Amino acid sequence: MAEIIRVENLYKEFGNEVKTVVLKGINLTFEKNVFTALIGPSGSGKTTFLNVISLLEPPTSGKLIIDGIDFSHKNVNDSSDYRNENFGFVFQFHYLLPEFTVYENILMPFWIENLKITDKIERKARNLMEEIDIWKIKDKYPSQISGGQQQRTSIARALVKNPKIIFADEPTGNLDKETGNTVLKIMLDMIKEYGTTLIMVTHDREIALNAERVIELVDGKICKSFLVKEEGLEKAKKILEDRSCIM
Ligand SMILES: Nc1ncnc2c1ncn2[C@@H]1O[C@H](COP(=O)(O)OP(=O)(O)OP(=O)(O)O)[C@@H](O)[C@H]1O
Ligand SMILES: [Mg+2]
Repeated sequence: MAEIIRVENLYKEFGNEVKTVVLKGINLTFEKNVFTALIGPSGSGKTTFLNVISLLEPPTSGKLIIDGIDFSHKNVNDSSDYRNENFGFVFQFHYLLPEFTVYENILMPFWIENLKITDKIERKARNLMEEIDIWKIKDKYPSQISGGQQQRTSIARALVKNPKIIFADEPTGNLDKETGNTVLKIMLDMIKEYGTTLIMVTHDREIALNAERVIELVDGKICKSFLVKEEGLEKAKKILEDRSCIM
């Protein structure tokens, strides 16, 4: 398998006078086309870690290599082109722009980069929207659609440019269980179809067990990391229930 992200001895601190060390020396590699779930207690550093590896926040120290490029010392603004070209984001709250329609929101990643909306792009957007059943609401505004539809819209927006990696932070956290499962299934189908790498933060262990690999962070360190298939579902569940760290 090919490596897409590597971090070595990664640290992240916040604050000047009073320092909070949130990530405490993380070593990890993520493989291409793999769905990794990142779990762990509230405050363990999941969002911080996701933000650092998705180039939204700089690490304090350590190494960060993405697809062969060393981002350890690049600042966040210098990375914004790379981020827009290669990453898709799905968050707990959808962050759709309220004054734009569903369709316009989905095309937003092209507008942000001043790219021309070609027929090919329009076809791609329409196909995606039909596949996840939001074409029929394309002219509605975010406030006029359900939570599940909003989240499906943000998934389409994240996928429309065929990103190398999708970073998702609790994408089902704001949805009821049934809608959450539908949204998860759509994401899984999509990443399979488009060969996308997915790194998803979730506090939901059931959702995590749909991933190929599960990583648990506790207090800014890796506590567990395992492949679900290799362990088998039953053993994987037990590993997740067990509070002790295996790393
Ligand atoms: N910008 C910041 N400034 C100061 N401290 C921060 C900042 N961002 C996060 N933290 C602190 O870092 C720790 C980890 O936060 P983070 O949001 O990464 O946790 P999390 O695992 O995503 O939690 P949750 O499951 O509740 O979303 C927390 O103690 C938080 O208060
Ligand atoms: Mg979080």
